[in-house]
Amino acid sequence: MRISKSLAVGVAIVVGVSHAQTFQRLGTCPTLGCVFPPDQTDFLAGQYFDIRLEVHAPINGSEANGKQPDEKFTFTIAKEKGKAEPATTYFSIAEPKLERWNFSWYEDLFAKEAGKPSIVNVTSKAYRRVALYEPGEYTATLTYNNGSTTKASWLVRDLQEVRKAKNIIMFIGDGMTTNMITAARLIAHKAINGRYQTKMQMDQFPILGHQMTHSIDSFITDSANSATALYTGHKSTVNCLGVYADSSKDPFDDPKVETIAEMFHRLTGGLVGIVSTAFIADATPAALTAHTRDRGQYGAVVDSFLHGITNYTWTNWTGPDVLFGGGAEQFYDPKLGGKTYLNKDYYSEFSKAGYQVLWNKTSLAKASNDSRALGIFTVSNMAKWLDRNVYKSNLNQSLSPSGDKTAALDQPGLKDMTLKAIDILAKRSGDKGFFLMSEAASIDKMMHVLDYDRALGELLELDDTIKATIAKLKSLNKFKETLIIVTADHGHGFDVMGSVDTKYLAAQNVDRKKRDAVGTYQNSGLSQYANTGNLTYSEGVHFPSNWDPRYTLFQGLMADPDRRENWSVHKDGPRVPAVNITPSADFYANPKDGAGGILLNGTLPVGDDQGVHSLTDVPVFAMGPCQELFGGVYNSIDIFFSMAECFGLARGKGHGQ
Ligand SMILES: *[C@@H]1O[C@H](CO)[C@@H](O)[C@H](O)[C@H]1NC(C)=O
Ligand SMILES: *[C@@H]1O[C@H](CO)[C@@H](O)[C@H](O)[C@H]1NC(C)=O
Ligand SMILES: *[C@@H]1O[C@H](CO)[C@@H](O)[C@H](O)[C@H]1NC(C)=O
Ligand SMILES: *[C@@H]1O[C@H](CO)[C@@H](O)[C@H](O)[C@H]1NC(C)=O
Ligand SMILES: *[C@@H]1O[C@H](CO)[C@@H](O)[C@H](O)[C@H]1NC(C)=O
Ligand SMILES: *[C@@H]1O[C@H](CO)[C@@H](O)[C@H](O)[C@H]1NC(C)=O
Ligand SMILES: *[C@@H]1O[C@H](CO)[C@@H](O)[C@H](O)[C@H]1NC(C)=O
Ligand SMILES: *[C@@H]1O[C@H](CO)[C@@H](O)[C@H](O)[C@H]1NC(C)=O
Ligand SMILES: *[C@@H]1O[C@H](CO)[C@@H](O)[C@H](O)[C@H]1NC(C)=O
Ligand SMILES: *[C@@H]1O[C@H](CO)[C@@H](O)[C@H](O)[C@H]1NC(C)=O
Ligand SMILES: *[C@@H]1O[C@H](CO)[C@@H](O)[C@H](O)[C@H]1NC(C)=O
Ligand SMILES: *[C@@H]1O[C@H](CO)[C@@H](O)[C@H](O)[C@H]1NC(C)=O
Repeated sequence: MRISKSLAVGVAIVVGVSHAQTFQRLGTCPTLGCVFPPDQTDFLAGQYFDIRLEVHAPINGSEANGKQPDEKFTFTIAKEKGKAEPATTYFSIAEPKLERWNFSWYEDLFAKEAGKPSIVNVTSKAYRRVALYEPGEYTATLTYNNGSTTKASWLVRDLQEVRKAKNIIMFIGDGMTTNMITAARLIAHKAINGRYQTKMQMDQFPILGHQMTHSIDSFITDSANSATALYTGHKSTVNCLGVYADSSKDPFDDPKVETIAEMFHRLTGGLVGIVSTAFIADATPAALTAHTRDRGQYGAVVDSFLHGITNYTWTNWTGPDVLFGGGAEQFYDPKLGGKTYLNKDYYSEFSKAGYQVLWNKTSLAKASNDSRALGIFTVSNMAKWLDRNVYKSNLNQSLSPSGDKTAALDQPGLKDMTLKAIDILAKRSGDKGFFLMSEAASIDKMMHVLDYDRALGELLELDDTIKATIAKLKSLNKFKETLIIVTADHGHGFDVMGSVDTKYLAAQNVDRKKRDAVGTYQNSGLSQYANTGNLTYSEGVHFPSNWDPRYTLFQGLMADPDRRENWSVHKDGPRVPAVNITPSADFYANPKDGAGGILLNGTLPVGDDQGVHSLTDVPVFAMGPCQELFGGVYNSIDIFFSMAECFGLARGKGHGQ
């Protein structure tokens, strides 16, 4: 994996006023002159992006400089040791108009509690839809305030333009860590004398790498920001989808970067498929086509699946050929309570654009392979594997995608959706190939609410889906031409430390005595989930044969709200560990959760009702053409560059504008 050469030359930036660690004026802009994309950015040759320049004039607070924000700042680009040219000359574009705004921020917690925001006046310009074609190093220089400069070192990576894979299938286990894979293996695969008798499908991939998931301006990422890194090769800020965060109020005017899906479609006419068990406007699916600083703009996200960037076009984007997931509330008519973009009915918008609209597992199975498909199977996130397969009476907790408030009892799982997506994409793509992203979203969602069993069920469903995908590709004679990647976008601080005797635990009345139910080291024993003798189930399908054994996993997260742990499966549906039971906004352990368990105090701020993401690097499994690009330790953005290289998407000077 190539390391950015520009790492060595990134000292040009002027270190500004030191501002607080957790409260930032603008994360990627430590000085008063801001250049986006910022210093240390890598690009794919020919990838479209926007440039945003800002000059900040803090009116008050410790940074106040008493100046009007400069209106006469200049911006140049220089390639290697070449002459610095104005951006307008370099890109042959007109000078954009000057914009002005102000914003406020808190310098630290004391300022926030005292209600003393610091106000900053801003002048700005944006150069839209430009691209760099020649590989090599560039220096972008903003000159402002009579000679202050902010320099950004940019690198256009020198990648081969030859296409090596016809298709790429990218599986994302949202929030999935190596620790979770290890725990899932333990409960689903039988071991004899310390030796597993079967392997997870992931364990059978030839290449293993691991990626660092940090944000551009914080070391913990969210799924929007990490998906942006994976799909665009550009690190960004929490809550950003396909943009760098600027300081303006408009969530849609931030500087955009083109995604792998958009580039692949624009340059090759290849097809795109998007599958998730989350509501489909959620960050991981959204980041393939949406460009906004605010991942919460769900309606606009759904519109961008269909139309590309809202009110602004840089591609011949025509929509994904497959879009499967939950989140019906962003589709159905506002008259039924839908919360849609510009109050439109998005089922009919997609229908008008030639999509078959699917609402349940039955119609999914019968759907034609010949036309594009929108499958929305429930309101909100889809039901979990455990509720679809083991505790089925909980299915009535999901609402129908029609918006009629009945239960969504006939929901497909990740495997059903992914296999159908491949049928459609394979049939329709011909020689052009396809890019499919398939997300096991609720590994993350269930880890957030400390529902470890459901999270591991989702992880095992992902593994089962990968296994079935390989078989499907072989049956369609597309296995050899398809790169399969399995990775995550970030982790949670989850691990298993031993086992719990749930019978003993429930029989004790005193919390300190209950802790004797925890067995560590030799007292952890062996997994009771996979060893019940139901070999057909556990070995053939690779899910636990018993989710409710007496001896369960002693498992947990590193950061929690108050909660009561009994370390038993939640048979009544997804867990709610903490609730707001007092007049204050604080969260306390849910009195209805974890009967017979131990009351444990949280470590997170009391306003948090669930666990949070953690720092850990996450695994990357690869199989197929270019698999060798994915071994070793590297940054999340390198996954974009390796996928783009495998698809041959770089467009050097020969292809120029
Ligand atoms: C900040 O901008 C406002 C207009 O929005 C202007 O009235 C004010 O004078 C500016 N303040 C400074 C210090 O530039
Ligand atoms: C900030 O901008 C708003 C307009 O967007 C203006 O009404 C306000 O006066 C400005 N505040 C300052 C302190 O300049
Ligand atoms: C900055 O100015 C605003 C608006 O006048 C005020 O609300 C805020 O308290 C000031 N902040 C500081 C740190 O003085
Ligand atoms: C630049 O210099 C001029 C002349 O010294 C001065 O009037 C002006 O305020 C300065 N502008 C900035 C933004 O520092
Ligand atoms: C988009 O444009 C590219 C290049 O002109 C072309 O190869 C591709 O087929 C187009 N895609 C669609 C869907 O029109
Ligand atoms: C797009 O343009 C329409 C019509 O001008 C407007 O109503 C809408 O708010 C715009 N959307 C965004 C995301 O800017
Ligand atoms: C399943 O979805 C189809 C549309 O895809 C709908 O026509 C049918 O009524 C649904 N079936 C049930 C049982 O809800
Ligand atoms: C879709 O393609 C698969 C082959 O992968 C085939 O088994 C199935 O019958 C096809 N479905 C329809 C409705 O044609
Ligand atoms: C779902 O079904 C169960 C068992 O039949 C019942 O106890 C529960 O009240 C139902 N829940 C909802 C939300 O309808
Ligand atoms: C094995 O598990 C399957 C799937 O849950 C179940 O249908 C079957 O009854 C089980 N068999 C035994 C012997 O427990
Ligand atoms: C510990 O948790 C309990 C239950 O949520 C709560 O009542 C108590 O205030 C917590 N103690 C502390 C020190 O936060
Ligand atoms: C543990 O708590 C869960 C969720 O409240 C509950 O479903 C389960 O029955 C409890 N287990 C025991 C052994 O009491």
